[in-house]
Parts: sequence; C-alpha cells; structure tokens
Amino acid sequence: MVFDLDMIKALYDKMPSRIAKARKVVNRPLTLSEKILYSHLHEEQKLENFGRGKSYVDFAPDRVAMQDATAQMALLQFMSAGRPKVAVPSTVHCDHLIVAKTGAAEDLTNANNESSEVFNFLSSVSNKYGIGFWRPGAGIIHQVVLENYAFPGGMMIGTDSHTVNAGGLGMVAIGVGGADAVDVMSGMAWELKFPKLIGIKLTGKLSGWASAKDVILKVAGILTVKGGTGAIVEYFGEGAKSLSCTGKGTICNMGAEIGATTSTFGYDESMERYLISTNRAEVAKLANKVKEHLTADAEVYANPEQYFDQVVEINLSELEPHLNGPFTPDLATPISKIKEEAAKNGWPTKVEVGLIGSCTNSSYEDISRAASLARQVADKGLKTKAEFTITPGSEVVRYTIDRDGFIDTFDQIGAKVFANACGPCIGMWSRVGAEKKEKNTIVHSFNRNFQSRNDGNPNTFAFVASPELTTALAIAGDLTFNPATDYLTNERGEQVKLDPPTGDELPKKGFDAEDPGFIAPAKDGSKVVVKVSESSDRLQLLAPFKPWEGSDLKGLRLLIKAKGKCTTDHISMAGKWLKYRGHLDNISNNLLIGATNFYNEKINSVKNALSDSYDEVPNVQRAYKAQGLGSIVVGDENYGEGSSREHAAMEPRHLGVRAILVKSFARIHETNLKKQGMLALTFANKEDYNKIKEDDTFDIVGLTSFAPEVPLTLVIRHNDGTEESIQVNHTYNANQIEWFKAGSALNLMAAKFAK
Ligand code: F3S
Repeated sequence: MVFDLDMIKALYDKMPSRIAKARKVVNRPLTLSEKILYSHLHEEQKLENFGRGKSYVDFAPDRVAMQDATAQMALLQFMSAGRPKVAVPSTVHCDHLIVAKTGAAEDLTNANNESSEVFNFLSSVSNKYGIGFWRPGAGIIHQVVLENYAFPGGMMIGTDSHTVNAGGLGMVAIGVGGADAVDVMSGMAWELKFPKLIGIKLTGKLSGWASAKDVILKVAGILTVKGGTGAIVEYFGEGAKSLSCTGKGTICNMGAEIGATTSTFGYDESMERYLISTNRAEVAKLANKVKEHLTADAEVYANPEQYFDQVVEINLSELEPHLNGPFTPDLATPISKIKEEAAKNGWPTKVEVGLIGSCTNSSYEDISRAASLARQVADKGLKTKAEFTITPGSEVVRYTIDRDGFIDTFDQIGAKVFANACGPCIGMWSRVGAEKKEKNTIVHSFNRNFQSRNDGNPNTFAFVASPELTTALAIAGDLTFNPATDYLTNERGEQVKLDPPTGDELPKKGFDAEDPGFIAPAKDGSKVVVKVSESSDRLQLLAPFKPWEGSDLKGLRLLIKAKGKCTTDHISMAGKWLKYRGHLDNISNNLLIGATNFYNEKINSVKNALSDSYDEVPNVQRAYKAQGLGSIVVGDENYGEGSSREHAAMEPRHLGVRAILVKSFARIHETNLKKQGMLALTFANKEDYNKIKEDDTFDIVGLTSFAPEVPLTLVIRHNDGTEESIQVNHTYNANQIEWFKAGSALNLMAAKFAK
C-alpha cells in the first residue's frame, strides 16, 4: 500500500464540521470546489467569506507530487530550506527525461545511462527526506498519481501543470512551481488567490465516436486558452456521472490548456469503481461514508447560475469528435468541418504519425477502444497508412494491456511502443527526419500542440484528438477522414467503413504489474548523504538570489519585447534542454530563445544595446550582467502560459533581468516570478506596449513605498532624448512584497527556519 489511508481518514473525519462552519460563514449552499478548499485552510488561516478572484488564502494541501525535470530544482530549493523531512506525503516521478526513439526497453536503458547522475540525485534526496520515489519506467506522474494517490475531496499540488489530472478522482489538484512545493513540503502555508468558479453542466451521454476527450476539446474551443484563468472548473450533471473516472481525468488534465487553476468532478460510482479496481477499496469505503460532502450541495447544481461565476452546458449526446490545432489546443474543429477548414487554412492533410497515450489518454478504456480499431485493420483487409506509436501512462497500464493482448493487436499494425514516460509529449522524441524541418501533419492524443513541442520541427502541424480518432486517422493516413461517414479502400479495392470504437472501462481481470517501480524512502534518512559534484554539468547547488537593494531600479535595458504567444516553452525550452533542469547556469543558456522579437520578427535575435549589434538572447543578457546592468522583458497577453516550470522565472532572475512587464500573465508563471524575487508587472493601459522602443532605457519608480494595490511607475527614456512615464500594475500582496525584498520566497523561509 503506497497511499496514506490515515491521512485520508483524518481529513474525512474533519470535513463535515469544517464544511458546516464554512457554509455558515458564507451563508449559502457550497459548490464542491468550495467544500474542498474550505476543508483545507491552513491552521493559521482565519475562516471568512473569501472573495473569489480577490482574497489570498493560505491552504494546507494533503500531498505533493514532483516530476523529474522540475523535482531537481524543487529539491535543490528544499535542501536550502533547512528542514530534516517533508511535512506532507510527497513523491518524485521519473518520466520526463526519457527520449522516445527505438522502443521502450532500449530507450529506458539509454535514459538510465544518460541521466543516471540526476536519477541518483533524486532517489538519494527522496530517501533522505522521506519522499516516495518512482523510478524511470514506472510511469507518467499524473497517471501514477491517479492510480495510487488521488482521492475524492483531497487537495494536492504538483510541480507540473497537468497535476490537475487528479480532478478526475474528485480532487482539487493544482500545478505549481517548485518553490510552492518547497512551502508545502516544509509545512508552511501555501497561498493561492481564492479561485473563481466555472460550472460545466454535462447532459446526455456519449455514443459512437465521441469520447471524454471531445468534451474538453469542445470546452477549449468555447473558453479558449485563457478562459479558465484564475478559476476552478467544476463539472456536474447526469452526463458527468456517465463518464468513466479516467475519462474525467482526461477532461481535468486538459483544463490546463484553458488556463484553469484546476478542474474537478463530484464523487460518484465511476470513482468508486476505479478506486476498487486500483486496489483502494478502503478509500472507496471511507469516501462512501462522507459522500454528501464530496459533491456540491443539491441547490448548487439545481440553480448553477446563482452559485458559479460562469456556466457552460454541453450535451454529450450531440457531441462530435474534435480535432484541435494546429499550434494551439483551443482551435477546435468538429470532425465534420475538418475538410473545409484544412482546405481553407492550407493544413497538410496527409497524416504522417498517429501517437496515442501520454498522461492525458492512456487509460485502459482509451487503449481498449483504440485497439478495437486496430483490430479492424486486419479484419477489413486494410493497411495502416501512417506510423503509429503508443506511450503507456504507467507500468501498471502497460503490463495490463500487454496481458490482455492489446499490445499484440497494435504490433500487427506496425506500432512502436515507447517507454512509460512523457516522450513525444514533451519533445523527448528523436523523430527520424525532423531535422529536415519539412511541413507535415501529426495527430496525437496528448494535451499540448504548441509549435515545435513534439519533435522540435516548427513545421509540424500537430492536432490533438481522442485516442480513438487518432487511431482512425493513422489508419486512414488522412486528416480529413471522418470515420463516422467516410469509407476507406482496402487492399482488395473494396470500400469499407470502420465500426465505432468499443472497449472496457476497466480491466475485467483487474490491474496488475510485476514491478510497478516504487521505492519507499528510508524510515530515518538523516544519515543518507546527497552528493552533487562541483564539476557536474547537470546539477548545481543553488546560491541564494541577492536581496533587493532598497531603492528604485534605474537605467534598465530592454532585453526583448516579445511578440505574440510567449509560453514557458518559448521562455525556457524543453526538449534537449530538459537535461539541464538541475543546473541553473547551464539551463539559462536557453533563456527566451523561442520568443519572437517584436522589432525584427526573428526568434532568438535581439539587439545588444552595448555593442549595437544583434545576438542571441542569453548572450545579450550575459553581456548586460557582466556590466552590472539590469534589464526588463516586455511581453504580450497570457505571458508564461503553458507549464509550471519555474526555470522560466529563475533563468531571467539568475541572469539579471529585473522585471517582466506584460499585457497579462498566466497564473502559475506570475507566482513563480514573485517567488523568485522578480518584479511581475502589467501595463495599466495595454496600449502602452506600443510605447516601448528598442533602444529605450527604463526606471521602475515607487519601490521604496511598494504596497499592495498601489501601482508602480515605469519611466521610459527614448533614444531621441524624450521620456514618458506610464503606470504599471502588480498583484503583490504584503507577504509577496516581503519575498521581493528578501530576494526570493526561499530566502525568507530559510531565514525564518534559521531563527
Ligand atoms: Fe508528461 Fe506530457 Fe503529461 S510532458 S506529464 S505526458 S503533458
């Protein structure tokens, strides 16, 4: 048993009275999200009627999960915090550092050779500080969490934006940066702006080619990549109950793609079935006893408009399969419209590769439904036109689908089975020919499809779809194939139609694995020694950032004025850079190399004001740093959307950038910047973005009286000798201002524990 039954029991014992008190203070029925949030207030947090989207609230999450790429920095920070052991159950999952190339066995051996230093570091830190360790090959963090740790009514944080996946099992699970994980693992309060609430009512029932994935693809089309910002999305209705638990996980997983704080579902029979099937009947039993507290009060779902800030309704019976993309997950096209959209937009229609699996879609149900299509290839005399790959979410899933014959079925259509890891989803895909940068189309059942994400080729048009549709399109080799209406010509020249997918929600013989890949930590880790070599290029112990100098910031240079989308992938690329996630100085060489410079529309080419020449972004910033000059980064809307990677905040801080000034921020990134002692500012008037010129210098004024809700002033000095002042806003509360002054949140915490 790897999960903590006592912790769950203790929470369920307290939940009814905590919820009753909250209901009294708020003086109205409560949504599920509110019940979970109010049940997890930190002991020092006073109970009050919190303002949604306004109040900063201190929470005490039940657990923490970290993946290997972000865990390195999280644990390096935790080591600096001066604690002997983690304060809440925590786990590390090795899933991001495995390159998908030839197939599971060989790829895993290569990863173990290539990254042994990092895996050894993570396992020894885990062993020392009481953290559960899931070794490479055990599976993708979110699938492993769903199978082992998620539980209805729980609250967790994870250092990965798709931590939200655990909402499928009724949690409030939130993706954060490593510094937040350090807070929770140190037993400190974890602060979050009390979220707004979006209710999504699901009516009807899925049938035919539609799947749970299509629910979130449709929602992404409605709400867009920014539509969920600062909100928890709560799904309810008969349609919600009809979905499997893992289907709910898929929907919650991609809540990250609409910027939502998290998404969740009320406890129901699908969750009970999943808990039992994954050997957690005791958890289901406990949950059944507090059932009414693990869903919203009845009045809420009867009159959702009264209790949610926004309500969306989707009829599952009418839902069409969708293809979202290319290059953004919210460009949603129903399959019946794909022909005309592809023609209109010039999307390449030949599907080169279909990829299923990942943390988003590798449940038993997904794989069995995809296999039902693969089986039809031989039965109907077809030949699969595109390449096809499977990335199982965990060893438990892989072992079970192998035992039940699905891997054999996929083998027969020439599929490649990658390791139980992120692989192509995070750009760890050594795709043959990608370096030629040819225009091509792939379809996958992952969650993200930003340019260059999967194979590093900016000309790969990646579309997101359900595993079933991905499989059908790989068989057809054609993006415009609508399996519900179109025919395929088989090897005998006959016209055949694919039957709609069928599958099992859960394995009839139960889940199994010979070795799931878990290593429990030492009971007493105080003697475990963690070594980091000074000559390592993968790991570097952290030096504290310098505290604020106590004055306004003067004479700052412009590092880059980024144009358009600037996600954490653009700020701190993944792919080959993942290997430097534990070495701040080395990874800083990828700072903003994916961002487009507003002035020359080029990527990784900005003006060095000292030499008046263009150079790569990290080189220019290092040149400023060498001269003791600070700089600012200017950005567009939703700056820092995408992942929770704090390197996107630490790198500019390490290299001497002093402020990030944008039209708007993605939530996690804004918090990450604050935690690292950086100024995260927004234009009070978005049009002022146009006032920033390439050769300007800047002063940031008002820092000596830096206070919540008091804007700062940016003085812009133009090259022609003129100057102008604009108002810049911030969302720092009093505590966050202390982080800024101390140089980082970690500096403040280390000082507190040292007392
Ligand atoms: Fe990994 Fe992709 Fe999920 S990177 S955690 S499989 S979103």
